[in-house]
Amino acid sequence: MRIAFLSSEVVPFAKTGGLADVAGALPKALRKHNADALVILPLYQQVDRNLLSDTVIEVPIDWRGHTRLTRVFQSDAAGAPAYLIDAPQYFSRSAIYGFSDDHERFAFLGRAALSLVRHLDWQPDIVHTNDWPGGFPTIELRARRRFDPFFEKTRSIFSIHNLAYQGRFDPADLWWMGFDDYRDKNDFLLEGTASALKAGLLSADALSTVSRRYAYEIQTPEQGNGLDWLLRQRRDRLLGITNGVDYDLWNPETDPYIAAPFSAADLTGKQECKLDLLRRFGLPEELNRPIIAIISRLVAQKGYDLIKPLARGILDTGCFFIALGAGAKEYEDFLQSWHDAAPHRVGVYKGYAGEPLAHQIEAGADMFLMPSQYEPCGLNQMYSMRYGTVPIVRATGGLDDTVENFDERRGTGNGFKFREYVPGALLEKIREALYFYARPEAWRAIQLNGMMMDNSWPTVAQKYIDLYLRVLGL
Ligand code: ADP
Ligand code: GLC
Repeated sequence: MRIAFLSSEVVPFAKTGGLADVAGALPKALRKHNADALVILPLYQQVDRNLLSDTVIEVPIDWRGHTRLTRVFQSDAAGAPAYLIDAPQYFSRSAIYGFSDDHERFAFLGRAALSLVRHLDWQPDIVHTNDWPGGFPTIELRARRRFDPFFEKTRSIFSIHNLAYQGRFDPADLWWMGFDDYRDKNDFLLEGTASALKAGLLSADALSTVSRRYAYEIQTPEQGNGLDWLLRQRRDRLLGITNGVDYDLWNPETDPYIAAPFSAADLTGKQECKLDLLRRFGLPEELNRPIIAIISRLVAQKGYDLIKPLARGILDTGCFFIALGAGAKEYEDFLQSWHDAAPHRVGVYKGYAGEPLAHQIEAGADMFLMPSQYEPCGLNQMYSMRYGTVPIVRATGGLDDTVENFDERRGTGNGFKFREYVPGALLEKIREALYFYARPEAWRAIQLNGMMMDNSWPTVAQKYIDLYLRVLGL
């Protein structure tokens, strides 16, 4: 089976969040199941050129009325063949997203991806796209299938990682993008704008999203972002598959970034990692004081509106707080002022730090906070568990599916979760976690329950293979 996997971010090339982790791990895992998967992404300015091989191909791409020869670079660094589209006018920019022509940039990526597989004469069985940028190639594939025998048998999967990002733009642009056919155009239109997300949701042969709980939530008006009606319409084609963890990269026994290795059998190295983390953030070396950490994009989704009013209450519990995050100025300013007010208790890194610091925080912290307003899957809670760092989460989306409340009597559970999106509920859970932190035997049980979980990708990849087979009618 041939699978072309398209993503706007892929580890180790370019990343802003969890989509990159998934796109770096799933194609590799599919190959372990003997599927012929390749991955296609932009060659951003941010990509480390040392990861690229010397072979460059030139692909003719029809775009805005011209045929352009576009260079495509290759790499094996993701464990599956990766093809990186070199279009400097679109992808040599200071950031990955956030420009007024984003729809044009990712529509071009979609066109380039389909042109590339055609040029390589590599006929895909499945084109698997992700989030709103994937709306363009998905709808284009549907159209091409009608007149181009090369794609006649190709089927599409559209994966939703976050329904809040919709890829909206001025519908007047649809005609020069080549989506001027009545049906195509209509599939983009939403509330007077064009939405690449809606086009993908409507035109894909099957839809998936990154946890079972989120698959349900997005069919409700509360979490449907105005598209719940459409997801309810297509619910027989929508499947929730919870993301996996790439244990090649996230494993405290082999992690090259952390101060000392450790495992469920021997946790001693974790103390060294804690000391290392305190030093990195210039905090006093008080190993008995618990560290609560958070790593996230600084957007409303991640629950900072619950943390803000608790700044004092959290520190009153006696913990350290360490935050790594990039995003909205409002939250960056909050973190800065929290640190300034309590420099010996609050450590802050503002900005995107890359992999090493994220791993060092996972390894050195005692607890990991994810008080998300919504969370399609969430990867950090699963990384945390592997590193013996106990997650405190809100019961939403994938967090609800992967974290189970600790039950002292039965000795079950791998973390702490609260339901109501209010500061008081979060603070109560922090207090509950700290109560058990002070009881080493119970704490060890929670840590081990998390460390023993198997969230590995090969098991998850099999679910995608089953989905592909179903869509292909096999
Ligand atoms: P989301 O995809 O919504 O951002 P996930 O929990 O799925 O949330 O994945 C977030 C990923 O991005 C994790 O690998 C996390 O370590 C990483 N990450 C988030 N913010 C930063 C940052 N500022 N610096 C480094 N890594 C980050
Ligand atoms: C999105 C979601 C996150 C999920 C990630 C990977 O960015 O916000 O919950 O884990 O995609 O699927």
